[in-house]
Amino acid sequence: MKVSLGVGPYLNVVPVWCVCSYNDDGRANVMTVSFAGIVSYNPPLVYVSIRPATLTHKNIIKRGAFTINVPSVEQMGLADYFGSISGASEDKIEKSGVKICGSDNVDAPYIDQFALVAECELHKSIEIGSHTMFLGKIIDVKADEKILANNGKPLFTKLRAFSYDPSSKLYHYGSELLSCLDEEALET
Ligand SMILES: Cc1cc2nc3c(=O)[nH]c(=O)nc-3n(C[C@H](O)[C@H](O)[C@H](O)COP(=O)(O)O)c2cc1C
Repeated sequence: MKVSLGVGPYLNVVPVWCVCSYNDDGRANVMTVSFAGIVSYNPPLVYVSIRPATLTHKNIIKRGAFTINVPSVEQMGLADYFGSISGASEDKIEKSGVKICGSDNVDAPYIDQFALVAECELHKSIEIGSHTMFLGKIIDVKADEKILANNGKPLFTKLRAFSYDPSSKLYHYGSELLSCLDEEALET
């Protein structure tokens, strides 16, 4: 017999992506998102759903662009930090020491240390409620050669990307539980 859980984001684990954008003053900012994914092949669209209170939200609307940077499991601490504090109160780029590169195709920076990056131009913004869904058109994807398979495409066992359970705030790598942001979730 099933138990009713009520309403919640219980259905699947979601990716952990770091979204980079430029601030008004031209400095780079980065935030972590997990309400995110691929939408269509043609046009090649991805979405990131972002709360209006974030600095990234303002930046994307002003610049019409963002990049998606995919962290590896070894970079989980970095991604967690980028999702824990706003660039409005702390310069996360300077504090973390990551190296910023300018995109070739869009008005947004990316982070050199992340092995897989997508340069996106803003295609459409949809006001959902708590979040704005930004649809980004992928203009180019860049990858470090070390994560490519023989067919020239990214191999996720080499990239070692991890995922996030938004209902219990747990990070997962494959079937392995990595860390718990909400200790109560593991109490039995
Ligand atoms: C794993 C993780 C996933 C997150 N996913 C989202 C998300 O999908 N949308 C969102 O608005 N905030 C999300 N956040 C929170 C933002 O990253 C956080 O509010 C961040 O401080 C905003 O940064 P900014 O103000 O510099 O743009 C997430 C945080 C973490 C740690």
